[in-house]
Amino acid sequence: MTERVRIRVDGVDHEVPAGRTILQALDDLGVLMNGVDIPHYCWHPKLAIDGSCRLCQVEVRVGDAAADARPGKLQIACNTPVADDMVIDTKSERVRAARQGVMELLLINHPLDCPICDQAGECKLQDYAFDYGLPAARTREPRRALKKRVDLGPTIVFDQERCILCRRCVRFCREVSETGELGVFDRGDRSVLETFPGRPLDNPYSMNVADICPVGALTTKDFRFKMRVWFLEDVDGVCTGCSRGCNVHVGVAKNEVQRYVPRRNDAVNDTWMCDVGRLSYKESCRPDRLSRCAVRAPDGRLAEAGFDAAVQAAASRLRALVDARGAGVVAGVASAHASNEDLFAFKTFLDALGTEVRGVAVLHGESDSLLVEAEKAPNAAGARALGFGRAGRIVERLRGGGLEGLIVLGHDLLGDEYLGASDVLERLDTLIALDTCHSPLERVAHVVFPVRHAVEKDATYTNSAGRVQRVRRAVAPGPDVRDEGEILLALGRALGLEGFAEAGPWDVREASRRLSVSLPAFEGVVLASVGPGGRPLAGSDG
Ligand code: SF4
Ligand code: SF4
Ligand code: FES
Repeated sequence: MTERVRIRVDGVDHEVPAGRTILQALDDLGVLMNGVDIPHYCWHPKLAIDGSCRLCQVEVRVGDAAADARPGKLQIACNTPVADDMVIDTKSERVRAARQGVMELLLINHPLDCPICDQAGECKLQDYAFDYGLPAARTREPRRALKKRVDLGPTIVFDQERCILCRRCVRFCREVSETGELGVFDRGDRSVLETFPGRPLDNPYSMNVADICPVGALTTKDFRFKMRVWFLEDVDGVCTGCSRGCNVHVGVAKNEVQRYVPRRNDAVNDTWMCDVGRLSYKESCRPDRLSRCAVRAPDGRLAEAGFDAAVQAAASRLRALVDARGAGVVAGVASAHASNEDLFAFKTFLDALGTEVRGVAVLHGESDSLLVEAEKAPNAAGARALGFGRAGRIVERLRGGGLEGLIVLGHDLLGDEYLGASDVLERLDTLIALDTCHSPLERVAHVVFPVRHAVEKDATYTNSAGRVQRVRRAVAPGPDVRDEGEILLALGRALGLEGFAEAGPWDVREASRRLSVSLPAFEGVVLASVGPGGRPLAGSDG
């Protein structure tokens, strides 16, 4: 068992594992910057300790000094190990004076850039200057002139004057991306951050350096000057780029997603995300998003239709097919982009229709040993837990002519792993598609319904480790854009399927409650019980 020690921080006693530093122990307890404020620049919970900025100084007494209240020693909290009976003061006058001294030194050369700096509003130098800065500079020498707007690579712009040499970005590139593009060159007051000659900052995780840079020295080309951060509303979300499900802050303004930045979840993505996933926020505002239902007219054209008309058209085609040929000729292809609640609605619909033919289409791509998973959708594990097997079996039946009707969520079935350029869908009697955006499915679909992107939903997704994670609605969808569950409920009702007439209007909380009592894996996993860190499916590691 790990040895534990007792420490007292600002008069409050805590018991923490031995071997941790003061900042680590407070971070483990969840009180760092959340009750116990120790400003810090170079320390980051997921990087090696640097101990270079000196801002995290606290007053520490231990042993006899603690007992008789002699003055403590100023020590850096990020690199001082906790010890039994350690007494830590984070607020004394000496601590305050030490922090003021560090801030004065850091600000001597910092440009007066805040009005034109993209970090303003989320800059730690601004925040701590406000708390510990002097009202006026005491130096007369000119500030150091260094490089501005340096293009470091495909994703990042660097302002050398703003850099406070905390080396977080250097350690990130050494320890996390393991690409080592950045270094601090020269000595003393000539030290500068640079890329190594001929080595641009170009790796699949490059944009994380902008998140961890405490000042406006590193900014992403994508978000730079796009929007002042105080206009953004932050909503908890999950990246849908692969089955890792990295936790994100969805930054929203003007009812549009403006950026994703990683949200800390030690069980999923630490504090990182890949660049591809970060830019996948653009999926929600693609110009080819579907906004209206559509029904195939007698002349063969797909024509826009109201929701009720589309539901009636889909129900009458399905009813005629099932009455003539039986439900066994109808298959359901789920999307691993659909939520647990929507997939449960799909399962309920297919059960009531009477077909067992179902599967999930999941596209695969590259993976790595850090975060990126091969399954390029957020809910493949959820679909499997809900009984959707491989869609490959359905493709075989389609090719063999054994199916005449198809209800398909998303368009991953058109990927090369499944149908590719095959024309088998053209032979179907009935094809009903539920999708977020236009796709070649529309060439052959009889009815098309637009559905919501993850940022437009209250829902859960199950990541590759079996952790159920919640997303919250960040932007309002168009009036005709619905959850898959709502569309399937209306369709089941129009078909007169058992249990659908008495079901109330679509309510994702009710769907989640029913899922939690219907499938043992989801036992107890109701929407309201899934906190910001998610929770594992029953029996999974999560
Ligand atoms: S660029 Fe930012 S993260 Fe990198 S050393 Fe400078 S201040 Fe630190
Ligand atoms: S690793 Fe996957 S889930 Fe994480 S940011 Fe990248 S694409 Fe998104
Ligand atoms: S955070 Fe401790 S020295 Fe920088």
